Amino acid sequence: MTYDNIIFEIEGGVAVIKINRPKALNAINPDVLNELTDALGKVRADSSIKVLVLTGEGDKAFIAGADISHMVDLDPLQARRFSNRGQDVTFLLEELPIPVIACVNGFALGGGTEFAMACDFIYASENAKFGQPEINLGIMPGFGGTQRLSRLVGKAMAKELCLTGVMIGAQEAKNIGLVNKIFPHEKLWEETMKTARVIASKGKVSTRAVKQCIDRGFDLDLHNGCYMEADNFGICMASPDGKEGMSAFLEKRKPEFKGELS
Ligand code: CAA
Repeated sequence: MTYDNIIFEIEGGVAVIKINRPKALNAINPDVLNELTDALGKVRADSSIKVLVLTGEGDKAFIAGADISHMVDLDPLQARRFSNRGQDVTFLLEELPIPVIACVNGFALGGGTEFAMACDFIYASENAKFGQPEINLGIMPGFGGTQRLSRLVGKAMAKELCLTGVMIGAQEAKNIGLVNKIFPHEKLWEETMKTARVIASKGKVSTRAVKQCIDRGFDLDLHNGCYMEADNFGICMASPDGKEGMSAFLEKRKPEFKGELS
């Protein structure tokens, strides 16, 4: 598939997907969803990729939401389908076996906040703006916003944001636990890639195990979560990278992780 609405690149174990509709502030339409689905399938299938960064092309927006000019004429069944398709992409992001960083370089509104929340964590530039403004359009979040926002920032804050439709800045988003780190706009990309490369240098069995234990354990009680953690601990221990990491420590040298998934 050729991509007209996204840019997909791989740089030394780090895949980068940029939503590429800067004139429409990277708003999400069905073509974007189709291209993202295709690219995320490629990311999943390529064992050389260890981390994914999701960002928006241009200086102004990560994603300013679902494309309102597409949504305006949808009938209820088409709208439900569009919501399902967007949600499918959030699950593809969330369930990738590699970590995904959202690099939020401007507006992340509606579907933008929703896509960012489906990533493992968010780095934002000082001028980033988050929010669920669907209520201002007489509609509501449809790409998982009512579900992931409450899980991330608590029910009361999620309700306030979804019910008022206000935009919040990067600092407030960090204060409520939506954003991990904020950087000056011109440093955001460099800092995001720095962290991506750090994670890409780790063993892939362990990064996958950490991501999956935290995600899946979140919905479990503590005992079952810890049971799952012990199983994954065993798998990491048996992996070539586990052997290499511990041997390297004992031999006082830097580990060379191969990233094999056996
Ligand atoms: N859909 C379609 N087009 C959009 C868009 C969107 N979500 N957001 C921005 N655009 C377009 C504008 O229509 C404009 O296009 P033209 O140049 O052709 O007129 C262009 O992008 C630039 O936008 P503005 O001129 O509005 O730029 P601004 O700096 O004045 O304002 C903004 C920026 C505050 C982000 C404003 O564009 C805005 O409010 N956008 C809509 C945000 C929104 O409501 N998002 C939620 C969408 S619904 C959703 O996401 C549902 C869901 O959960 C699935």
